[in-house]
Amino acid sequence: MTDRIGIIGVGHLASFLIEGLRRADPDADIVLSPRNVKRSATLAATFGATVAADNQAVADAVDVVLLTTRPSDAVAVCQRISFRSDQVVISTAANLPLAALAPAITPAAAVRAMPISCAALNVSPTVLFPANTRASTLFALLGNVHVLTDEAQFTPASVIAAFYGWVYALFDETVTWTEGVGVPPRLARDLVVETVRGAADMALAHPDEELRVMLESLATPGGITEYGLGVLHQRHGLDGWTEALDAVLKGMTDS
Ligand SMILES: NC(=O)c1ccc[n+]([C@@H]2O[C@H](COP(=O)([O-])OP(=O)(O)OC[C@H]3O[C@@H](n4cnc5c(N)ncnc54)[C@H](OP(=O)(O)O)[C@@H]3O)[C@@H](O)[C@H]2O)c1
Repeated sequence: MTDRIGIIGVGHLASFLIEGLRRADPDADIVLSPRNVKRSATLAATFGATVAADNQAVADAVDVVLLTTRPSDAVAVCQRISFRSDQVVISTAANLPLAALAPAITPAAAVRAMPISCAALNVSPTVLFPANTRASTLFALLGNVHVLTDEAQFTPASVIAAFYGWVYALFDETVTWTEGVGVPPRLARDLVVETVRGAADMALAHPDEELRVMLESLATPGGITEYGLGVLHQRHGLDGWTEALDAVLKGMTDS
């Protein structure tokens, strides 16, 4: 990657992105905004980045700007920066439309992206809109890039970034139960997490097979998978997940 990368907003997401970028490209030029002095200094020292004097100095020094402030700060931050026409500014705010971002970063190109924390391990699926070669090249260092064809898909696809977090809640609930019935804590954690990774790997290895059909092959009549699934359905356990997805989408669409 020859593009110099600037990061404005060195919070949680930025730290995951920097870790993954550095692992993927030991030579990448990464320039950080100085806001949150302690975190920018720590990230710079840990991953080999430069801390700029201010946000304008970040923009002046780079080709691609990752805008990873909180959503409510994104436009105001950009309005105080002059960008160049040869730059790309990538916003990670889930519900900030291009029409709101673009005027604040003109004449640079505006792109929306939704990476998740496993970018630190270079395995983040990242949805992107619109197609932009430099943005795709950057996020390809961090995992699979999914370029959307319509901005209307961006917000619904971004809900899956929230689902990613809920998977940890499911891990925690299941590990706690497993420990509670006598399995040693470390074994319980490994067993649950490796099992979910196995399920994900199987689904990824058979992209044309319907997940419902894969489930049927596991749920032997009279077996434990079928029995527990019946309990989940009786308790509307899966409906709760759908309701949460609906609620997050509605919240993002209404805001
Ligand atoms: N966290 C995730 O895993 C994740 C995943 C996907 C998308 N996102 C999105 O990515 C964005 C960042 O999320 P986050 O969780 O990383 O938030 P965060 O931890 O709160 O980080 C935001 C950072 O922006 C900084 N900031 C605020 N105003 C600034 C300014 N004027 N100039 C430069 N920096 C400024 C904040 O500094 P202070 O701390 O000093 O206020 C903070 O360090 C959000 O839009 C979020 O929805 C996050």
